[in-house]
Amino acid sequence: MASSRVTIIGSGNWGCVAAKLIMSNTIKLGFISRMWVYEECSSKWRETHGCQQRNQRKKPNILLGIKLGENVVADPDLDNAVKDATMLVFVTPHQFMEGICKRLVGKIKPDVEAISLIKGMEVKTEGPCMISSLISDQLGINCCVLMGANIANEIAVEKFSEATVGFRENKEVAERWVQLFSTPYFQVTAVQDIEGVELCGTLKNIVAIAAGLIDGLEMGNNTKAAIMRIGLAEMRAFSKLLFSSVKDSTFFESCGVADLITTCMGGRNRKVAEAFARDGGKRSFDELESQLLQGQKLQGVLTAKEVHTVLNNRGWLEMFPLFTTVYEISVGCLPPTAIVEYREHKSKSC
Ligand code: NAD
Ligand code: 13P
Repeated sequence: MASSRVTIIGSGNWGCVAAKLIMSNTIKLGFISRMWVYEECSSKWRETHGCQQRNQRKKPNILLGIKLGENVVADPDLDNAVKDATMLVFVTPHQFMEGICKRLVGKIKPDVEAISLIKGMEVKTEGPCMISSLISDQLGINCCVLMGANIANEIAVEKFSEATVGFRENKEVAERWVQLFSTPYFQVTAVQDIEGVELCGTLKNIVAIAAGLIDGLEMGNNTKAAIMRIGLAEMRAFSKLLFSSVKDSTFFESCGVADLITTCMGGRNRKVAEAFARDGGKRSFDELESQLLQGQKLQGVLTAKEVHTVLNNRGWLEMFPLFTTVYEISVGCLPPTAIVEYREHKSKSC
């Protein structure tokens, strides 16, 4: 670990907080880490946020209002950011990962270890592909995942939370990631169920859209709890159908029920879906995302589409009424009120 060099790929809300967590540990070890920034160091961003950039290390080390560690260097040059890294932390919205992986081929050390904090999946013609598999397959490297009940703004101000590292085989590597992220206010546990952990983080975003719709319709707490319970059941069923190795116990880790609860109570997916339902679906999710999130990205709507493609291709639509209804509402085939009528509805148009 002492000779490790960490590069964080992504500098959004969670990326910056992940950098803060990592830096509080790496600073003790005395090495400099890099963070690849897509746009936050552009002149437009720099008008409103201080940002430490390569060769400009005297600038205030704050990004998106989050004070990073003293030893993080923000770097807009992806090749330069990764070239010496021995540990790569991927934390961008999932829709950009395929392009980023293509750019990284041949640019990283062959024995680099990776971890994905990204909640989402890709669907290819051959079937669904988790983001950790995309990274492993395209770059030929081992990749763990870290998921959990982790609303970034709360961790930024050091409120206690937990997270789960998912790994495939190598417990020693997983424990190295646990060590890198753990702080007194951020407790991390490793479990040997990479698919289960990653699917929990991915699928709860669809349920959070449903929970937001319930809030927008002012249906109350019992209805929201019912939606969360049904959502959790669909998350487990879908995960086990895709990967028979997925463990029930994973759903009781931070990545499972805890992340589902926090995202349905206070996440961005919930917030945007609430606004969507409040004005009866008149403004699209894309429009609301740019109006309400100021450059941050929504994952639940894209994930609902990706999961719908899998359900449709495999003839599983009827087994997942909540996931299906969230998709149909998000593309305007059904009104927001259909979220509480989903057992009866049979959509013809989607
Ligand atoms: P974000 O939504 O705050 O920001 C979006 C980021 O995408 C910005 O850094 C922007 O510069 C970048 N971007 C925009 N266009 C791009 C492009 N074409 N290529 C590459 N990057 C581009 O990001 P975030 O909240 O850090 O989310 C990253 C991942 O972390 C997501 O999978 C999310 O689900 C997950 N996550 C987020 C939180 C949270 O509370 N924010 C918590 C846990 C997990
Ligand atoms: P949102 O993207 O809905 O804010 O969820 C963040 C998250 O994943 C919390 O764990």
